[in-house]
Amino acid sequence: MAEITIIVKQDDGDKVIKATSGANLLSILKENNIPIHTPCGGCGFCTCCKVEVFGKNGSTELLACRNSIYADCTIRVVPFP
Ligand code: FES
Repeated sequence: MAEITIIVKQDDGDKVIKATSGANLLSILKENNIPIHTPCGGCGFCTCCKVEVFGKNGSTELLACRNSIYADCTIRVVPFP
């Protein structure tokens, strides 16, 4: 499996994370101590684990617990209201 780089944008500065391509995004964030709200424990019910993924044509939001990452990217954990 290839190693990828994820840049996590945070209020106190960007954090660079190395991960394995194809790994679950929520697992990656938890393993790297990135704060994220997950009241359903990653079952896909609460929709609280939204992450904004930035690309060339803007950004999109997805649930960290329901998605895997396969390439280098820049993300931001969407603050829980
Ligand atoms: S942790 Fe609840 S939907 Fe992802």
